[in-house]
Amino acid sequence: MDSANNDPEQVICYCSGSTRQQLQELINQGVDNLDRLSRITGACSGCGGCEYEITQLLAEKIQS
Ligand code: FES
Repeated sequence: MDSANNDPEQVICYCSGSTRQQLQELINQGVDNLDRLSRITGACSGCGGCEYEITQLLAEKIQS
């Protein structure tokens, strides 16, 4: 994935329309796993195609 693209308005999950910013805000608030993020935003509850990207967002946060 292109980690150089940090556009906050980038849609990460097309099925739910969740943007990078929305997901990152939740992660910053302590939503630290895919399951919880999914329940709150609906992300990754459709086709599952965004799972990798969301996992990356979570991993970035955990490493920082
Ligand atoms: S793009 Fe996220 S579930 Fe389909």
